[in-house]
Amino acid sequence: MKIGIVTRDCAGINAAIRAVVRTAANSGVEVVGVLRGYEGLIAGETRPLDRRSVSGIINLGGTILKTSRSEAFRTEVGQREAAGTLRRNGIDGLIVIGGNGSLSGAHALAESQGVRVVGVPATIDNDVEGVDAAIGADTAVNVALDALDKIRDTATSLERIFVVEVMGRESGWIAMQVALAGGCEEVLVPEMPLDMAALTEEIRAASAQGKMSWIVIVAEGRARAEDVAAAIRLSTGRETRVAVLGHIQRGGRPTAVDRLLAARLGHEAVVRLLAGETDVLVHGNGGRLGTLPLIVATRPKRTPLSESYRLVKVLT
Ligand code: F6P
Repeated sequence: MKIGIVTRDCAGINAAIRAVVRTAANSGVEVVGVLRGYEGLIAGETRPLDRRSVSGIINLGGTILKTSRSEAFRTEVGQREAAGTLRRNGIDGLIVIGGNGSLSGAHALAESQGVRVVGVPATIDNDVEGVDAAIGADTAVNVALDALDKIRDTATSLERIFVVEVMGRESGWIAMQVALAGGCEEVLVPEMPLDMAALTEEIRAASAQGKMSWIVIVAEGRARAEDVAAAIRLSTGRETRVAVLGHIQRGGRPTAVDRLLAARLGHEAVVRLLAGETDVLVHGNGGRLGTLPLIVATRPKRTPLSESYRLVKVLT
């Protein structure tokens, strides 16, 4: 058997590639890396990955295979061309490491082209349905938290209000984790309604009682930090600054949590593929490795955030 790997990018993906390559090598199975994600799969860009080629990458962010967003792969024609690359290279099993876009593509390849495929969840948003923890999510929260702790130094010293924008176009998971772990006063997420009048009134009332420093976390998918800050300035007259954390959250050295998850899920993906499983997603829910049908990952994840939000407010 020959296994192909397609990846997106986030911290911990290289550790997962290493786990796949070395597990496969132990069974005498060849591995081929697909360059630039599904675009590279369509174009036939591959490179062999042997045991030594994945040395020294366990601690690196990003993906050594490079990646891209592919419009062509969304079409049946693109998926046929991708399957053609696999056939021409003698690849008879594919491991796709990425978020719901990549995993939906993996399911489409299995369903429409009969490709044998196993998915590995990896996204900073931690929004893969059916999966407790995706690779890269823990690192993203830690990177954002580190930045936030530094911002707090200025917020406290100058008694300022800060609005800190974190990633998450459709998911408030990072925002909620960071707000709770960072002891923030308010958090705005796409999953919950935004009441700007109530927020500014709360800050105004707190300021009147002497609480001067305030940190609001906003997920990029809920509102722009600049707009939230402008509304706060307008209605409270308080000095309000903005920090947009952006892509620093997707890069960086993977945490131990992400490396461990990557090692376990990367290994398990190969084991499942060699055992004949296909169109499945590996996970480590509840500390136990298992699989789910890949179609589950094509559905939007509904993470209940209201309990965490309640805690953020109780602890303010
Ligand atoms: O899905 C991961 C993610 O980083 C989101 O949090 C973010 O909204 C999006 O990707 C950004 O995508 P891009 O890097 O293509 O702008």
